[in-house]
Order: sequence, then C-alpha cells, then structure tokens
Amino acid sequence: MGESRIALVRGDLTRLAVHAIVNAANTSLLGGGGVDGAIHRAAGPELLTECRTLGGCRPGEAKITHGYLLSARFIIHTVGPVWSGGHRGEPETLANCYRNSLSVATSNNVRTIAFPAISCGAYRYPIADAAEIAVETTTEFLRENDSIAEVTFVVSSDDIYAAYQRQLS
Ligand code: APR
Repeated sequence: MGESRIALVRGDLTRLAVHAIVNAANTSLLGGGGVDGAIHRAAGPELLTECRTLGGCRPGEAKITHGYLLSARFIIHTVGPVWSGGHRGEPETLANCYRNSLSVATSNNVRTIAFPAISCGAYRYPIADAAEIAVETTTEFLRENDSIAEVTFVVSSDDIYAAYQRQLS
C-alpha cells in the first residue's frame, strides 16, 4: 500500500535530509513569504538566479531546480490554488500539485521527497480538505509508481499535524 511509504513529521522543511523538498511557491517563482521565503533563504541567492530562467509556473504545475545550499539535491516548485470557496477547481489544482511534483521527482530519479502543507498558509485552503487531498493523491501515486521510496509530509503546527494524522490512520 502507498501509506507505508508515507511519513509525517513536525518541523522545518528546509532542514530535511531528503533528495528533494517541495516548495509552496507562487506563479512568479521569484520567492515570497512562508515556506517559499524559508527555502530561498536557506538555499541562497543562486536559487533565485535559476528560478528566473523558468518563466514562472501555473497553479498545479511543478518545476524542478537544484537545491544549492540545502541538503536536498533538488527543490520542486509547485503553485497551490488560492482558496476561493472550492468551486473554482481548487481541489483538482491542489491534487495536481502533489501528482505533478511526484512525477517530476520520479523523472529525476528522486527517491525521497518532502512536502509542506501546500496552500494551507497564505492561500487559506481549509486544512482538513487539503490534508485529505495531499494524502489521497500521494497514496494513489505511490500505488502506481514504486520508484519513490518515501514521501514525508512536514507540517508546522499541531492542527495541521492532527489533520494529516487523521488521514493516515
Ligand atoms: N517548513 C514547513 N512548513 C512551513 C514552513 C517551513 N519552514 N514555513 C511555513 N510552513 C507552513 C505554513 O505554516 C503552512 O502551513 O507551510 C504551509 C504553507 O503555507 P505558505 O508557505 O503560506 O504557502 P501557501 O499557503 O501555499 O501560500 C503560497 O505564500 O509564501 C508565499 O510565495 C508564496 O505566494 C505564495 C504563497
């Protein structure tokens, strides 16, 4: 089953020793606050230099860069949906963030990958719904692809941790 290859931890995504970490970016890919800001600070200025060459990123899509000063070899940048009530395709877009990040990881021989709670901060996605989409989409992907050894969800608050735990139990 996919679940056995999923881990859940509280902490700072930028410090995870995995092959790739996923950034909750915006469409410009030129940095921001939250986890995006933390990743750019930790990776150093060369990350922005590479991001400038990518031509942005549409919501639900995923683009890969090097990890620079991070211990992670790669950063996979994805853009989550901004919550606007749930009738503008937000669930599908959020699912695409996980699916596309995982497929970009697979095509770059990434075996261990860590995600933040995409869209659960500035983009105000309801936590329980976002956690369900994250776990269901990831579990389904892992069932169909055995090249990824482990996916770690790294969350930064008790309420989000509890929401993911409910999905994983
Ligand atoms: N490690 C793990 N999780 C983190 C970290 C970190 N270092 N920093 C923040 N988080 C958590 C937040 O608490 C939230 O639960 O990541 C989740 C996602 O929040 P945001 O970073 O605000 O991302 P999102 O809601 O997808 O909004 C993206 O915010 O930072 C800008 O440029 C970004 O415009 C984009 C928007």
